[in-house]
Amino acid sequence: MSLKAAEINKDSLSLQQNAGRVTFVGTGLQLAGQVSVLSKSYIENADLVFSLVPDGFTERWLVSLNPNHRSLQPYYAQKDEVKNRRDTYSQMVEAILEQVRSGLNVVVALYGHPGVFACVSHLSIKQARQEGHHAQMLPGISAEACLWADLGIDPGTSGHQSYEATQFMLYQHIPNPKTHLLLWQIALAGEHTLTEFSTTSERLEILVEHLSQWYPLAHEVIIYEAANFPHLKPRIERFNLSQLPYVELSTISTLLIPPSEKLALNVDILKRLGIEAGDIG
Ligand SMILES: C[S@@+](CC[C@H](N)C(=O)[O-])C[C@H]1O[C@@H](n2cnc3c(N)ncnc32)[C@H](O)[C@@H]1O
Repeated sequence: MSLKAAEINKDSLSLQQNAGRVTFVGTGLQLAGQVSVLSKSYIENADLVFSLVPDGFTERWLVSLNPNHRSLQPYYAQKDEVKNRRDTYSQMVEAILEQVRSGLNVVVALYGHPGVFACVSHLSIKQARQEGHHAQMLPGISAEACLWADLGIDPGTSGHQSYEATQFMLYQHIPNPKTHLLLWQIALAGEHTLTEFSTTSERLEILVEHLSQWYPLAHEVIIYEAANFPHLKPRIERFNLSQLPYVELSTISTLLIPPSEKLALNVDILKRLGIEAGDIG
């Protein structure tokens, strides 16, 4: 038996008999066009597809691929209900696991990349594997992937940092003004109760004051919203950092703060490598 076959055998022994399967796939940001060929095939061949996607059109497209479909949307707070998003996420995990436990081949289609700033996939996969089921994640096109494409920026030019906006505020993250800084869920910045779906100008003023330790208030920043439909354009709104508290934000807004300083050579390393500063392009 080859080493690979032996490994597969060992893997299947550790799986429960009649183990279910769960595969998380990403549908990208744009209706029907940003799903990988492999992910689409998983959707088509699943016993049951759960989904969390931005709009009804994407949901209907998923149903056209596989009519055995259930939306995870109803687990979010409805109308005036006050519900902690942690409860929402654990109910979603439980709904998925219930079907996996019954031995089904379950696919969960999440918009964007299923594992980028998305806890339901990671929690479900961990739980499913602990229970002896087969669980995996396939990559998808994230909001960040669309942002670099739409803004024409190569993040490799200066490097970049990426944080969830509230985590950035609540923890001691140090931004590097020589790289790009992405703040996800900017519309929820400072909303620590996990029950509201928007933030306030006052909280954003605190964020701006915090950021002003590293960036001038007049520094140009960008609110980016990828288009969910092929006939629409992305929202790319440029303004000064100081204006952030007064700009319209939505749950799909991502804040990009471009570098405010030039890269600086590390003269100590250059010296140790025997490189002259003038030799660096
Ligand atoms: C919970 S995260 C989900 C990210 C998703 N898994 C992905 O791969 O893009 C939600 C955040 O993603 C970003 N996002 C989602 N949709 C977006 C869009 N259409 N354009 C720009 N950013 C978006 C926003 O920062 C939003 O607050």
